[in-house]
Amino acid sequence: MTRTKPAAVEVRGLAKHYGSVVALKDVDLTIAAGEYFVLLGPSGGGKTTLLRTIGGFHRATHGEVLLHGREVGHLPPDKRPTSMVFQSYALFPHMTVMQNVGYGLKIAGLDKASRRDKSAAALDMVGLQGFADRKPHELSGGQQQRVQLARAMVLDRDILLLDEPLAALDAQLRKDMCLELKHLQEKVGITFIHVTHNQEEAMTVADRIALIADGDLIEVGPAREVYRAPDKRFTASFVGENNLLTGKVTAVSGSEVTVDVAGEAIKVDRRGLDVTTGQEVSMSVRSELVRMSLGDTDDARPGHALMGTYNEAVYLGLTTSHLISVAPGCEVTSRVVDDLDDLPAHGAPVRVYWAPGDLRLHTS
Ligand SMILES: Nc1ncnc2c1ncn2[C@@H]1O[C@H](COP(=O)(O)OP(=O)(O)O)[C@@H](O)[C@H]1O
Ligand SMILES: [Mg+2]
Repeated sequence: MTRTKPAAVEVRGLAKHYGSVVALKDVDLTIAAGEYFVLLGPSGGGKTTLLRTIGGFHRATHGEVLLHGREVGHLPPDKRPTSMVFQSYALFPHMTVMQNVGYGLKIAGLDKASRRDKSAAALDMVGLQGFADRKPHELSGGQQQRVQLARAMVLDRDILLLDEPLAALDAQLRKDMCLELKHLQEKVGITFIHVTHNQEEAMTVADRIALIADGDLIEVGPAREVYRAPDKRFTASFVGENNLLTGKVTAVSGSEVTVDVAGEAIKVDRRGLDVTTGQEVSMSVRSELVRMSLGDTDDARPGHALMGTYNEAVYLGLTTSHLISVAPGCEVTSRVVDDLDDLPAHGAPVRVYWAPGDLRLHTS
């Protein structure tokens, strides 16, 4: 029998209260060794609390954290296989890059020659071989982060914790650094747990994403799946640009559910969910999957289309978003790459439609 490697991180029934504030409710989560894992969600949802509890900076109120199969509730941060990447201030400004990387080994009592060898190897791994003698202020923000990564690796900390590591950067630099982090993680192969509230950042770096809001773990899945096939309504509202439709179920027949949306009978796949006639449900369809037509079109199939009135176009450079009112208080966005030569007039009747299968049902 082959023994499977324990998960890098296993969180069981984890709750964290700060006095009367419940920051985490009852979180179960498993992260495999070598995964690039992202905790994504709105501010105040509990992401930092979860990360810091994994790292040993907070004690759980209930539940446990296992790292490589070992329960670590009693261990302080420096006795765990985790390392927190902070923003640049975490490097010693008066030490060289090499000294910064070797510092932990010095504390651990290693001799100078071994320190040099190990530090040089770690700098090599993160692509900073020529930078050993520089001081932190002579490095870019991204290079300083790589020094921190080398510092973690040299101590055999193989679970890296990154809390909004790119939040301070402007948009272009953030994009570049995102890819750099992703490539670095692929190269070194250790586990990254990266907290962000930015869905594009999450999509760029993550193997898997956990959606966290209000102290709950809402949904976990591969990045593409969370984007293409969200299970929960919250995920649909937070990831991608989804149109949300709500209505009452009027019929359930096998795998097909009929929902009354503004007087139209809309068809949607049941996805194995429990639904009953009369129930209020939500449905989502990504804006890039919504088409718009001014007249009749064979592409718009009954049950997969809504009539509405044209509101306006929003030019976003590469794409244009057409906003269409389909019901009081309900606007649908159709996002397209091509510009229309003639925009519909404000208030003109238009039809929005989508391919069967592109609308997803959510019951929670
Ligand atoms: N030290 C603290 N004392 C009291 N409340 C806290 C503390 N840290 C965080 N919180 C609260 O816990 C909740 C989760 O916060 P946090 O984990 O920082 O969320 P996120 O990182 O997703 O923005 C928030 O309501 C926040 O105000
Ligand atoms: Mg936070």
